[in-house]
Amino acid sequence: MENGKRASWSGQLAFVIAAAASAIGLGNLWRFPYLAAQYGGGIFIAIYLVLVVTLGFTLMVTEIAVGRKTQQAPLTAYSLLHRKWGFVGFLGTIIPVLITPYYCVIGGWVLYYLKAYAQIAFTGVDVLGEGAANSGAFFSSFISAPFAPFGYGLVFILACAAVIVLGVKNGIEKSNMIMMPVLFVMAIAISLYVVFLPGSGDGLKYYLVPNLDCVTGPDGRFSIALLGKTILGAMGQMFYSLSLAMGIMITYGSYMKKTDSIEKCVRRIEVFDTLIALIAGLMIIPVVYMFAVKTGTDVHDAMNAGPGLMFITLPKVFATLGAVGPWIGMGFFLLVAFAAATSAISLFEACVASACDMLKIERKAATFFTTALIMFLSVFSALGYGAWGHVKLHVFPNDGGMQFLDFFDFITNSVLMPVVAIATCIFVGWVMGPRAVIDECEAGGCKMKAKGVYTVMVKYLAPALMVALLISEVCRALGIGGWKI
Ligand code: PFF
Repeated sequence: MENGKRASWSGQLAFVIAAAASAIGLGNLWRFPYLAAQYGGGIFIAIYLVLVVTLGFTLMVTEIAVGRKTQQAPLTAYSLLHRKWGFVGFLGTIIPVLITPYYCVIGGWVLYYLKAYAQIAFTGVDVLGEGAANSGAFFSSFISAPFAPFGYGLVFILACAAVIVLGVKNGIEKSNMIMMPVLFVMAIAISLYVVFLPGSGDGLKYYLVPNLDCVTGPDGRFSIALLGKTILGAMGQMFYSLSLAMGIMITYGSYMKKTDSIEKCVRRIEVFDTLIALIAGLMIIPVVYMFAVKTGTDVHDAMNAGPGLMFITLPKVFATLGAVGPWIGMGFFLLVAFAAATSAISLFEACVASACDMLKIERKAATFFTTALIMFLSVFSALGYGAWGHVKLHVFPNDGGMQFLDFFDFITNSVLMPVVAIATCIFVGWVMGPRAVIDECEAGGCKMKAKGVYTVMVKYLAPALMVALLISEVCRALGIGGWKI
């Protein structure tokens, strides 16, 4: 609510940019390149693209339509549609409440690295130490420090809160208009630099050329089980990357005008998100490949996912680039900071909008309460590698235990998000009926082209695929079946 009226985007483009800004995040930068490299390059990319335009399309259209139809954030949207299905909205609201704090803590890590690279670039003082050769020690001493991870996370949280409190048009829209173009320009510039580096060819081949090893068993024969794993890996990534099942698309859809075409917007969001994921691969894989060959490291090991790739391996790689290294490092971490900030803002907004709609309070009050809650919850993830490093949380009795950040990540990404997606498909496909979503898509007078695909997907295929994803994620956490991701 803004001045008693529901906020709205200034136009279709503003909505597409906001939703793309939410989708483009750490998932595109530190997860997609790694998965593509591990799962046979071009094969993974092809499977990913098919999933984006079918399953991703279905889930995103559904969420945006639910938001626009009800004009509510997730917490109240489902109960408005059906009294008994309000629990889906409740679960869908818990997800951003749990993710935002740890995502902001990681945002704080990015700010710390951005500051370090700016220092090296402008003053020449090698704060990373020995040309980043010991970036592993630099990273672990930072995340295990008593206060710094919380302090940087706090700066990140407050920056997001400052944008949110300004509202949809003046805050979210305007900040996206600055951050997104910078992100695109940086990504294109860095990837061009990498692609034209002498010797980048082998790394590019490794990334883009389909490698059948990922679907071939030890006996050299095609393995259906391995193909299944590749498909599930691509599906998990697509789900994560498109910001699905975390209340965001419902919230952003609730600010959309009836005259705008949901179908066209979703296609554009998919293009932007996938483009940045592919560009991220061009930025990262060839240099990491060259680095691995040069140092005699196993390429698969060098290409590890998540924090290790971004905060330990890449600094080592930047250090080998000579005088431009610190500038590339600074540009890269600025890009990552913007990608993380626009995604964190969308997660934050899902929480704030839910509080506004449920409690019927103004944005300022809701932002204040939400910020306090997120600050409090961020303490656990910020200190989980340091002062509280000894605390291990268990989901199952014999799962080995997880740190706070990994625990929140597992509960949301591996369990709650697939559960919410399954429940949403059952609700829309079998209780409310796909027709309601199709009608919402056609409300502005434009015909929905993919009606048939949508109906089949939402009723049958999407719930089945999501159940498979949920099972595989739980197996992965328990170490059953040799899952890699
Ligand atoms: N889609 C964004 C990304 O790819 O990083 C945002 C996001 C995804 C946030 C998954 C949180 C999350 F668990």
